[in-house]
Amino acid sequence: MRKKIIAGNWKMNKTVAESIELVEELQRVHADQTAVDVVVCPPYTSLKSVSDILSNTQIHVGSQNISAEDSGAYTGEISHEMLKELYVRYVIIGHSERREYFKESDDLINRKVLKVLEKKLKPILCVGESLEQRESGITEDVVEKQIRLGLRDINPDMYSDIVIAYEPVWAIGTGKTATAQQAQDVHYFIRCLIKEMVGLDASNVVRIQYGGSMKPSNAEELLSQADIDGGLIGGASLDAVSFGSLIDSASRI
Ligand code: PGA
Repeated sequence: MRKKIIAGNWKMNKTVAESIELVEELQRVHADQTAVDVVVCPPYTSLKSVSDILSNTQIHVGSQNISAEDSGAYTGEISHEMLKELYVRYVIIGHSERREYFKESDDLINRKVLKVLEKKLKPILCVGESLEQRESGITEDVVEKQIRLGLRDINPDMYSDIVIAYEPVWAIGTGKTATAQQAQDVHYFIRCLIKEMVGLDASNVVRIQYGGSMKPSNAEELLSQADIDGGLIGGASLDAVSFGSLIDSASRI
């Protein structure tokens, strides 16, 4: 049985004061829940305050990015050591916004995944096709390439620490959600691909989240699908009530 994972990607939102307000509200209701893995990924500037508030709770902290390097002359970058000092456990890697606006390549993404696993953090590797790619019928090709390259050279034993987030780019922040069946089809494809790449055991334990306009009104149907093991949530994670409702949905299923 794979434990469901609900992760909030706050993107470039929330000042420190706003972050504190949000996690205080969240932990009042959800601090002790253990049915689901809950992760919040605030901007770097809020990591310390958020980690302090969540330190005695079951809610984990993640970052939205990481450097593939250890330390040194990399202006503007943040290392694994800096993140671990702030009790970060999960790291979002290769989000479509980073691929598109910051030109992150599959090769760089793979180096980040390898670094994160080496340093005993858990990667959330994002993959997904654009609208144009879906309409031209190449969704599976795109996702397969991102996964094969992003997870290159990773030991099959590591897959229990890996989360893959399938996020169709056309559904991110647009209000358009993939139907539960469209999402399930790609999740099943990904699980079969992992089986082909590294074997049945790894494909059974790897968790595959859906992301793209997941919200309280569509979460139950998505999370009920056999190969959907949770959600990576942007907009709906910025409010404690809606994010809390997604945690509740995941723990009921
Ligand atoms: P959204 O974002 O829930 O606002 O669509 C999801 C994501 O980008 O991770």
